Amino acid sequence: MILPTPVELVPAAGHFTLTERTTVHAPGDAAPAADLLRTLLAPATGLPLPPHPDGELSLLLDPAERGLGEEGYRLRVTPEGVRLLAAGPAGLRHGVQTLRQLLPAQALTDRPAPGADWTVPCVDITDRPRHAWRGVMVDVARHFQPLELLLRTVDRLALHKFNVLHLHLTDDQGWRMPVDAYPRLTEIGSVRARTMLGRAGSDRYDDRPHGGAYSKDELRHLVAYAAERGITVMPEIEMPGHVRAALAAYPHLGNRPERRLDVWTEWGVCENILGVHDEVLVFCRTVLDETMDLFPSRYIHLGGDECPTVEWETSPGALARTAELGLAAPRELHGWFLQQMGAHLLANGRRPVCWAESGDGSLPEDFTVMPWRDADHGLAATRLGHDVVMSPYRSTYLDYPQSDRPDEPLGQEGAIVDLSAAHANEPAPAQWAAAERDRVLGTQAQLWTEFVTTEEQFDYLAYPRLCAIADRAWNPASDYSADFLPALARHRPRLAALGIHHADRP
Ligand code: ACM
Repeated sequence: MILPTPVELVPAAGHFTLTERTTVHAPGDAAPAADLLRTLLAPATGLPLPPHPDGELSLLLDPAERGLGEEGYRLRVTPEGVRLLAAGPAGLRHGVQTLRQLLPAQALTDRPAPGADWTVPCVDITDRPRHAWRGVMVDVARHFQPLELLLRTVDRLALHKFNVLHLHLTDDQGWRMPVDAYPRLTEIGSVRARTMLGRAGSDRYDDRPHGGAYSKDELRHLVAYAAERGITVMPEIEMPGHVRAALAAYPHLGNRPERRLDVWTEWGVCENILGVHDEVLVFCRTVLDETMDLFPSRYIHLGGDECPTVEWETSPGALARTAELGLAAPRELHGWFLQQMGAHLLANGRRPVCWAESGDGSLPEDFTVMPWRDADHGLAATRLGHDVVMSPYRSTYLDYPQSDRPDEPLGQEGAIVDLSAAHANEPAPAQWAAAERDRVLGTQAQLWTEFVTTEEQFDYLAYPRLCAIADRAWNPASDYSADFLPALARHRPRLAALGIHHADRP
C-alpha cells in the first residue's frame, strides 16, 4: 500500500485519527521533520498539529536506530497515536512521507478537503533503502522547465523517497544557469531561434524561438526547498561536448574562433566542442566555481558524453596540445580534459561525476560514473575502481516510449521502456562479485526533454515509471506482480490527488 514498498510492514487491527486536537512531540533536531509534516498536510487537512510534550504523534531521533542507517526509520501506528523513530533527520523525513501515504489520498491535494476523515490504519513498519543514491535527472536544457515545475518535482520525488535531483543545466540547445563572469552564456546561449520537430535528422521545425534561464536566486531557492525535503540538487555542466550554446555566446572557446555558430536548433550529437587552449580551461574552472557557489552538492556532474573529436583532429591548437601532452591521438584529450576539471572539483572538496558510454577505461580515476548505455559498462567501471550510479537507458530513460501503441507520443527509437522494464532495473546484479556490487551507489532515472513541451507530457513520461524506479532503488525484494503492481494500484489515487497526468499504461 506504500510506494516504494517498505522492507517490512506488519498490519495491525484498529486505526488512529488525526483531528484538530492532535498534537506533536518532536524534540530537538526532530523539529524540522515535524514542520515538514505540518507543511505537507496543511493545504488539504488544515490540521494545526501544534507541538506538545505529550503529543499523540511523536517524531524522535534515536541513536538506537543506527542499525537502520541514515535514511532508515521505524513507524508504529496504534489506536493511541503514531510513533516515528530514526537515527537521522533523513530517516524521519522518509517516515513523514510514509505517514502521508497511510492517510486517505485526499491528504495529498493542494486545497481543503472538507469532510474527509484523517484516519491512519494501525501498522508496524521497519524500513530502509537498499541504495544510497536514488536520483532523477531532469533535462532543463532541451526544453526549459519553469521553476514551479521543478519545485513540484522536488515534492513528488520526496514522496517517492528519491534523494537526488540531477539538473542537466547546459547543452547544445540551451544554457540555463547564469554565470556572472560570462553573462552572454544566458543572454545569447539561453535562446534558440527554432526547434526541430521530430527525431534527430528531421527536416521539420516549429519556427518559434524557445528560451529560458533561471536566476541565481531561483536556483538557491530550489536548492534550499529540496534540502528541506531531503533532496540534493546535483548540477550538470556539460563539457567538452554538448556546448554549442556556450560556443554561440563565446566563439573563442571553440576550435575555430572566427566561426559564428547559433544555439543549436537540431537534436542529436553536435560536432562542435570546446577547444583545449588555456582560455577554455579558465572558462570551465570559472563556471564550475560559480556552480559550486550555488550548489552545495558534494557531487558535480561534468557530462562528458557524446563528444565527437573530429574538430580536435584538425585544429592546430588541439594537435599542439596533443603533442605537448605526449598523447597518442587527439581523442585522448577527452580524458585529459575531464581530468583537469575533475581535479579542480576535487581541490574544492567536491566529487566529479560523468556519463560512461563504453567500458574502455578512458575515464579519469576519481570520477563517479553513470553508465547509460549497457549495464556491462557499469561492471567494467566498477572493476576499474569507479563508483557507479546505474543509468542504463533500457530501464531508466523516460524519453523512450512506454508502449508500441499507435497513440504513444513520440519518443526515442530503439527500445520500449514500459513499466515492467523500469521495474526490472537491477542496479547491482547478484552475479556481480561483492566488491563490484559495493561500488554501486545506486541508480537514477533520466528525463530528457527533446519532446517535452508541456507539463502534461512531462508527467506522462515520468509517472508511473518513476514509481517503479523508486521501488527498485529502495526495496530490492519488491516483486513486480506480487508487490509493486498492487501497491501502484493503491498509489494511483495519490498521483491523481497531486494532479499528476500519469500514464495508464500497464
Ligand atoms: C546521454 O544519454 N548522452 C547521457
